[in-house]
Amino acid sequence: MDKTKGREGAGMTEESRAGAGLTGLDRQAVSGLLRTRAFGRNIEVHETIGSTNTRARDLAMAGIPHGTVVIADEQREGRGRRGRSWVSPKGAGIWMSVVLRPGFKVAWASRITVIAALSVSEAVYEATGSRPMIKWPNDLIMGNKKVCGILTEIRACDADTDFVIAGIGLNVNTHTDQFPSDLARSATSIYQETGIHIDRNRLIADILNSFETLYENLAKPDGFAQFRMRYRDLCITLGRRVRVCGANEEFEGTAMDITGECTLLVKLDDGTVREILSGDVSVRGIAGYI
Ligand code: BTN
Repeated sequence: MDKTKGREGAGMTEESRAGAGLTGLDRQAVSGLLRTRAFGRNIEVHETIGSTNTRARDLAMAGIPHGTVVIADEQREGRGRRGRSWVSPKGAGIWMSVVLRPGFKVAWASRITVIAALSVSEAVYEATGSRPMIKWPNDLIMGNKKVCGILTEIRACDADTDFVIAGIGLNVNTHTDQFPSDLARSATSIYQETGIHIDRNRLIADILNSFETLYENLAKPDGFAQFRMRYRDLCITLGRRVRVCGANEEFEGTAMDITGECTLLVKLDDGTVREILSGDVSVRGIAGYI
């Protein structure tokens, strides 16, 4: 484990980065650490790109194989959920998209988001000893701030053209001053929370190793049931006061459970239980609660 206090992003020379054991993104370094069959066996690494999800979608449309990964050192037009942008400074994080061609219905896309979140949480735990929690549906939280977001996009047409793009944005070595001031209150990085500088190549490989294992288990009978238990254990939303902001309404309640369809059950103060399929859910005690 690399515990150097050096800085991988701005302010470090190439020599000091190398001296600290921190090198840039390197396709071969990632490949050498993979234990996968498909995930990451075909990798594109970009110094700068608009969005890895957009590039992955274009490749998928052109027929690129299942498991192809697009990674960038910097995104200029990183995309988040609900049309938001995703700040992706150079050298600071993992901005990565995985092309999946599920042999099952793309209606399972929410399950793919769940296992992507579990994979990141597990890989960060292995690297640091600190385990990110999950804010429903797919934000990873450290120190009550967001450290990672996942953007799952699907194209459903027919069996040959269906694909899912799982986009992972993980703030790894980001320093406070690399976040815009409005984000600094709610966003964090692994470095900020643990003081540990992470080798991104190793972390990418660890995420992909874990992601593929979980993915292959998804198709097994009851495969999702065990992930649901793990997800619930890590879900920081459950048991807490939440505010739900949907398209046409806002309400408060207490988060009760995650269903087999990955929806969230919220008990309102009058005792009624609402099932939340999507929407913004802020959690009391976590940055961003309003
Ligand atoms: C969120 O809003 O929480 C999801 C953020 C997802 C960001 C990642 S970074 C890699 C991939 N490419 C993108 O443009 N977005 C996703």
